[in-house]
Amino acid sequence: MNNRYGKLASLVYHLDKPVGRSFGDVEYYLERLQGTDGPILEPAVGTGRFLIPLLQAGLDVRGFDLSVEMLDYCQRELEHRALTASVQQAGFTDYVLDHPVQAIVVPAGSFQLLDSFEQGMVALHRFHASLCSGGRLLLDVDPVHSIVNSRPGLRTWSAPSDGLITLNATALSTDFGAQVYREMHRYELWEQGVLLETQLEQFSLRWWGIQELRMALEQAGFVDVVVSGAYQYGKAPHSDDDSISFEARKP
Ligand SMILES: C[S@@+](CC[C@H](N)C(=O)[O-])C[C@H]1O[C@@H](n2cnc3c(N)ncnc32)[C@H](O)[C@@H]1O
Repeated sequence: MNNRYGKLASLVYHLDKPVGRSFGDVEYYLERLQGTDGPILEPAVGTGRFLIPLLQAGLDVRGFDLSVEMLDYCQRELEHRALTASVQQAGFTDYVLDHPVQAIVVPAGSFQLLDSFEQGMVALHRFHASLCSGGRLLLDVDPVHSIVNSRPGLRTWSAPSDGLITLNATALSTDFGAQVYREMHRYELWEQGVLLETQLEQFSLRWWGIQELRMALEQAGFVDVVVSGAYQYGKAPHSDDDSISFEARKP
């Protein structure tokens, strides 16, 4: 299975991007969500990196994620701060909500982990169905250049109790027809030069053209689509921007 975020991948995510670490997204979405008076959903909530600052700002946020290991970190981080939030194990295309939400926010390019156009469309329709009338969807994607020019290689992190984690990423394929880039991720956990554990995960991302995603949102029933570059609301994306944000409303 692709994009599993298993035990070692989750540990790496948590070490590399601890709770509260921002790429500019935490501040941007906090500002965009200011004044939201109903529940907010974060699909693919992960370790709570983004969820927790939103809760701390007083927003009512819940989330889901496919990875039990990522959700375990999230629960621990919530407990550590005496915070509570509903976080469930579910996927983009099969999650269930009790009540419609006022906003859905998908940071960190997680939407691109759905590596087919069809799955992306299913998720957009589901997001639309999960929103109250007038509710907003906010999501960001990595620009095409950062995906197709990606330079995978070896990275290392110090792990708890004197360990070392290595991630060796190797490019597998770039499918320009399906707009999907694939890598193999080999994670290793070492202690005093002894290999304790290894895990292999296939990682894939589907890139979306800006106008393609705008039209996909409209086809899913959204209106008032605003596309912004570099986390500056309303600024037309520039070719050098590291992130592109979409905001759209359910009529
Ligand atoms: C880049 S992390 C983002 C985590 C968090 N939203 C953040 O901003 O730090 C991507 C997350 O997407 C989750 N994920 C991958 N595929 C998924 C799917 N089909 N449905 C739900 N979650 C998924 C992974 O388990 C991982 O936690």
